[in-house]
Amino acid sequence: MQIPRLHPDTIEEVKQRADIVDVVSEYVVLRKRGKDFVGLCPFHDEKSPSFTVSQTKQMYYCFGCQAGGNAIKFVMDVGKRSFAEVVLDLARRYQVPVQTLEPEQRQELQRQLSLREQLYEVLASTAQFYQHALRQSAGQKALQYLKSDRILKEETIQQFGLGYAPAGWETVYRYLVDSKHYPVQLVEKAGLIKPRKEGGGYYDVFRDRLMIPIRDIQGRVIGFGGRTLTDEQPKYLNSPETELFSKGKTLFALDHAKSGISQFDQAVVVEGYFDAIALHAAGINNVVASLGTALSLDQVRLVLRYTDSKQLVLNFDADNAGTNAASRAIGEIAELAYMGEVQLKILNIPDGKDADEYLHNHSPEDYRQLLINAPLWLNWQIDQILKDRDLKQPTDFQQVTQSIVKLLKNIVNKDTQNYYISYCAEILSLGDSRLIPLRVENLLTQISPANNTSQPIQIKKKWENNKASQATVTTSDRGLLERAEGLLLRIYLHCPEQRQTILNALEERDLQFSLSHHRFLWQKIIELTIEQVDLISNLQDRYLELAEDLNLVSHLFHLNEKNKKDIMRTPQVVQAAIACMERVMREKRYRHFLELWQETDPEAEPERWQSYYQAFYNEKLQLQELDRQRQFSITDLV
Ligand code: UTP
Ligand code: MN
Repeated sequence: MQIPRLHPDTIEEVKQRADIVDVVSEYVVLRKRGKDFVGLCPFHDEKSPSFTVSQTKQMYYCFGCQAGGNAIKFVMDVGKRSFAEVVLDLARRYQVPVQTLEPEQRQELQRQLSLREQLYEVLASTAQFYQHALRQSAGQKALQYLKSDRILKEETIQQFGLGYAPAGWETVYRYLVDSKHYPVQLVEKAGLIKPRKEGGGYYDVFRDRLMIPIRDIQGRVIGFGGRTLTDEQPKYLNSPETELFSKGKTLFALDHAKSGISQFDQAVVVEGYFDAIALHAAGINNVVASLGTALSLDQVRLVLRYTDSKQLVLNFDADNAGTNAASRAIGEIAELAYMGEVQLKILNIPDGKDADEYLHNHSPEDYRQLLINAPLWLNWQIDQILKDRDLKQPTDFQQVTQSIVKLLKNIVNKDTQNYYISYCAEILSLGDSRLIPLRVENLLTQISPANNTSQPIQIKKKWENNKASQATVTTSDRGLLERAEGLLLRIYLHCPEQRQTILNALEERDLQFSLSHHRFLWQKIIELTIEQVDLISNLQDRYLELAEDLNLVSHLFHLNEKNKKDIMRTPQVVQAAIACMERVMREKRYRHFLELWQETDPEAEPERWQSYYQAFYNEKLQLQELDRQRQFSITDLV
């Protein structure tokens, strides 16, 4: 949907009228506790309520998963909807007149909104029609196919709302347009009929196919997959991209799988509709299907919301070409995996079977066991590298080593990298343990940044574009900085009286925020004025319109008991956080000058050599001084 620019007055008025307790209550059972309300968090699985709603602040916050924001943000996240959509929706519910920046857009807007609702209705009606047709005589062979070939129980057929699209060219057309009086254009927009090339009129997209409704997270039908019952191509015909349905953003069966995913704290992604259906029927219900395309970041983010420890298993077919569908399917997730943001495992079922076939002669427990034994993605990749290689052959050995070096270079987390260096060194030692140290040494040299003949894949987050201002931050610094910078930002946000001190300290010492999400937030903060009382609420509004990565900083907008205590201890905490940031910066400079000094030839350029020496030595002294000054470690604080 084209996002209209809403008039700020409209947004403001929606915020005034849509009371957060009211809005949240539609989705969560809230109980009054003190002056706040609490309930079970809709964004993660929990047994005791850590989701709080403050009526006075008009904000919600979950102490379990750090989800938080105002009423608009809540509806956005619960329904995966855009800012404008939600504002419009709330505007309608609370009778706020909608003004867009261009008045003529207004009508168009109302039209689009009601279009979506009408599309849901047409699709729901169609799904019912298909289900009904499955029980008619024309649907007999389809029903038979489900029961005999697919061995599905009545219960599963019902649960997934499976149906049958009759064979005629205008069956659905006549039902929807002639009998139910839906406008032709609407039915076309729903992806159910197409205009004939010649002679006018329309024909059904799905004919003589077994119909599988595709639903959104809330279980509303947004499209269909239709499987042929003959040899007709394609085997599966899917709804075209529509206002409601986008293949790359949808996961089949997520509506049924979300609670299972939270419960097992793990999501399984399979390739086929029937793989997902068969697994659910077998009681393994933390499973979604990817609709046959490479997994997109959108899809991964969607499932990862339901697993706290971000565990994802890809169960993709091993195809006959010897290469594997999994490596293609991984697509953009590789980056997340190298950064350690998803624990990715790969399951290839023995004998190249898919999950559905496997379950025909194995038990659900067998499949669970396969999940448990599935290798981590990195191990799986190493296995792929080693496949059909003989390390005793010099060329194989060399090629394998090269591939392994390339892989190791991509691992961002240092501990993980070290682990895999030893792991690979052992493999490359071919059982002779005396060789291990040598192999480790070898791998280390080859992956060190100095040895940069082949560039590693650029692993960068989309928002990380400010290279010039900062040299790379090492992983060990990262955790420390995450805490120190976060703390400083939190104090800035919640303690107006500390703001000037923080500004001064940063300026005096010429410090910047090193982590890009913090830098981004800081940028937004200084765009607003320092006196701003409503800083947090203002920032949240801006973020909502700007970025999806609010998650990385949204926890800073809220205070739990621990944060409150820390903040009571300002200004020591401010000092410690600043010292910590300064330390990281000086450490970087120290290493920089040290390297320059080592690279300089004292005979050829004695003055330069001397000045680099002075520079790194100065930094070293400053570092020691800083360590003395830091009365307590930031790590104790946060
Ligand atoms: P597969 O071809 O691997 O088949 O498609 P499958 O799921 O095992 O099919 P069955 O068991 O013979 O019924 C995997 C998935 O890829 C998408 C579908 O989502 C399918 O479930 N696909 C496949 C299409 O969209 N179109 C096609 O023509 C084929
Ligand atoms: Mn199959």
